[in-house]
Amino acid sequence: MSNTILVTGASGTIGTQLTAQLRAAGASFEVMTSKATDSVGGVRARQASFEDVAQLTRAFAGIDTLFVLLPLAPHKVQLARNVAQAAKAAGVKHMVRSSGAGADAKTAYALPQLQGTIDDILAATGIACTFLRNAGFMQNYTTFGAQMVKDGMWYAASNDAAQSLIDVRDIAAVAAQILQNPAAHAGKAYTLTGGESLTDTQRVAALSAVLGKSVGFTPISVEYAANTMKNQWGMPDVMVDWMSSLNQIVSAGYAAGISPDAQVLLGRTPISFSQFAKDYATQWQ
Ligand SMILES: NC(=O)c1ccc[n+]([C@@H]2O[C@H](COP(=O)([O-])OP(=O)(O)OC[C@H]3O[C@@H](n4cnc5c(N)ncnc54)[C@H](OP(=O)(O)O)[C@@H]3O)[C@@H](O)[C@H]2O)c1
Repeated sequence: MSNTILVTGASGTIGTQLTAQLRAAGASFEVMTSKATDSVGGVRARQASFEDVAQLTRAFAGIDTLFVLLPLAPHKVQLARNVAQAAKAAGVKHMVRSSGAGADAKTAYALPQLQGTIDDILAATGIACTFLRNAGFMQNYTTFGAQMVKDGMWYAASNDAAQSLIDVRDIAAVAAQILQNPAAHAGKAYTLTGGESLTDTQRVAALSAVLGKSVGFTPISVEYAANTMKNQWGMPDVMVDWMSSLNQIVSAGYAAGISPDAQVLLGRTPISFSQFAKDYATQWQ
């Protein structure tokens, strides 16, 4: 049976690793980009924006299995509706969606409520779906948090509560496996966490050991973080609410749980934070 795969979000943090792993596995796939280019990372690209249903419908033509990764945007629910409409129109058979841990349309916490709402929109298409409910990424230390590590001080509204962060290379490995054999995972939702739960104090200690210099940790309040996101970074109110809900969840210790799903699907222990720090050490030089 044919299985033509299209990867959205291919140029991003998860997508870069996912396309590398699909290539390494010898899978046949294409990627989608909103940019005016016909390739991303050497892989043939179809150009379309999540903003435009007609573009998406053309991009999804002939696709059996779709990896759905929506960017963090204030109108993310509308982008999901566009994907759902286009996937139905194009006859997509299976969607594998990068979601978030705790996704639940009925929860009072804004970010998991958003993730659950989007999962429900995709499931309501009737197309077979698999949801990857990802915990926080270790790679946040190399993307938006890289400068803090370089400056030797990590700031977080976490109450120094433990979190079971996952390395996106493990998310990508799980996604690559499912995209190549989707039927076995239809209707499933997997919570992808790392195999350990560490506090910020423990993670900066691991970074300090690998980098051979001191990286400290300064706890900040949820309110201080919200004020910074809104007034210094100019983040829209709805996104500040999402991120503040995440800070509340983490601070309460609700992001500390370790799910067996990644270990079971990978058939090995998920990558540890110390290993992540060793592998990415040059990025903080
Ligand atoms: N960071 C975390 O700890 C964490 C944890 C759990 C879940 N998440 C979720 O993971 C997602 C982010 O994943 P990521 O970090 O891998 O993404 P990312 O690095 O932010 O990349 C975003 C991707 O979206 C694509 N994109 C942006 N606008 C687009 C548009 N209008 N149409 C089509 N494609 C568009 C970009 O591709 P082009 O520029 O090529 O179009 C890019 O590949 C977010 O939704 C976030 O909520 C994050």
